[in-house]
Amino acid sequence: MTENIIEVRDLVKHYPVTRGVVFKKTIGHVKAVDGVSFELKAGETLGVVGESGCGKSTLARVLMNLERPTAGQVLYKGQDISKLSGGALRRLRRQIQLVMQDPYTSLNPRMTVGDLIGEPFEIHPDVAPRGSRRTKVKELLDLVGLNPEHINRYPHQFSGGQRQRIGIARALALRPEVIVCDEPVSALDVSIQAQVMNLLEKLQAEFGLSYVFIAHDLSVVRHLSDRVAVMYLGKMVEIGTEDEIYERPTHPYTQALLSAVPVPDPTLRESKAIIRLQGDVPSPVSPPSGCRFRTRCWKAQDVCAQEVPLLQIRPGSDHPSACHFAEKREIVATHEVA
Ligand SMILES: Nc1ncnc2c1ncn2[C@@H]1O[C@H](COP(=O)(O)OP(=O)(O)OP(=O)(O)O)[C@@H](O)[C@H]1O
Ligand SMILES: [Mg+2]
Repeated sequence: MTENIIEVRDLVKHYPVTRGVVFKKTIGHVKAVDGVSFELKAGETLGVVGESGCGKSTLARVLMNLERPTAGQVLYKGQDISKLSGGALRRLRRQIQLVMQDPYTSLNPRMTVGDLIGEPFEIHPDVAPRGSRRTKVKELLDLVGLNPEHINRYPHQFSGGQRQRIGIARALALRPEVIVCDEPVSALDVSIQAQVMNLLEKLQAEFGLSYVFIAHDLSVVRHLSDRVAVMYLGKMVEIGTEDEIYERPTHPYTQALLSAVPVPDPTLRESKAIIRLQGDVPSPVSPPSGCRFRTRCWKAQDVCAQEVPLLQIRPGSDHPSACHFAEKREIVATHEVA
C-alpha cells in the first residue's frame, strides 16, 4: 500500500479565453486546475469531491494524458507522462483507464456490446489475439454482472446501470492498474448507484486496482475511498483519510459540503448545524485573491484576501488543510450561516 503509483506535482491547467473569429486574441485564462499536488498509492481509492466547475474532469483528463498540463507534472511510477511516446505511451494508455459519467454518449450506438468491449483489443492486439476475443468479451460481461449471451445487443437495449457496467467492462478489458472514475454513478438512480459502487469495490479487490473516484457529493465517495481530496475553484483545499475528512474536517468548505449531506438519524439531525453556502462559485477566469473560498466563507478576515493559504497540516490538526483559520469541526456547531 505504500508505493506511489501516481504522483501529481503542482499541476496547472489553464484554458485560454479568446475573442475574435479570424484574429483570435487571448483575453484571459480559465484557471481550471491551478496548482494541485497529491499522490495515489497502489491499491488505493482517492475520492475527489467538489462543486460543478471546480476542475475535477480537467484533472481527470490531464491524469489520463488526454491533455497536456500548462505547468507541473503527472508522474506514473516515477515517469513524467507528458514525456512518454511510442511504446511507453501505449503502455501507459493501457494502464490508466477512464470511466465516465454517461456511458451512453461515449458508447457508439451502432456498435454491438461485443464490439464495444472488444475495441480496446484492436489497439492492443497483444492482450487478446483475434481468435480469443469473443471469449474474453464474454468473460468481461460476466465479470461486470451482465449476461454474456447479450454480446450481440446494442447499447440502447440496456438500462443506464447496465450501460455503466458496459463502460466498466471496456475499461477493464486491458487489465489496467488505475481507473479514473469521473462521476460514474451521478446519472444513476440511488439504488442502482449502490450496485455499481459495489461492483467497482469487488473489481478493486479482485484485480488490485487503484481508483481516482470523482464525485460532486461527499456522501457518494465515503464508503469506497481510503482518502478524500476536496477541490474548490481549481485548488485542493483539504485532503485526508475517511475519518479525517468526515469526522474532523477543518476547512470551512469541507464543513459546508458535509453539512449538506443528509443525516438519516433524527436525533443527530437536530444537533447538526446547517451551513448554507451563499452565492455561487466565482468565475475561474478571475478567482478571488488570496483564498478562493473567502467570498463565501463565514470565517474570512483581511489576511484571507492577501495570502494564498497553503495546503498544509495546521496546528491542532492531523491532516493538510488550505485555510488560515482551519479548526476542528466542533466549531461548526456554534456557527449558523443562513
Ligand atoms: N476545454 C476547455 N476549454 C475552456 N474551458 C474549459 C475547458 N474544459 C473545462 N473548462 C472550464 O474549466 C473549469 C473546470 O471544468 P471541469 O469540467 O474540469 O469541472 P468539473 O469539476 O468537472 O465540473 P462538473 O462537476 O460540472 O463536471 C470550468 O470553468 C470549465 O468551464
Ligand atoms: Mg466534470
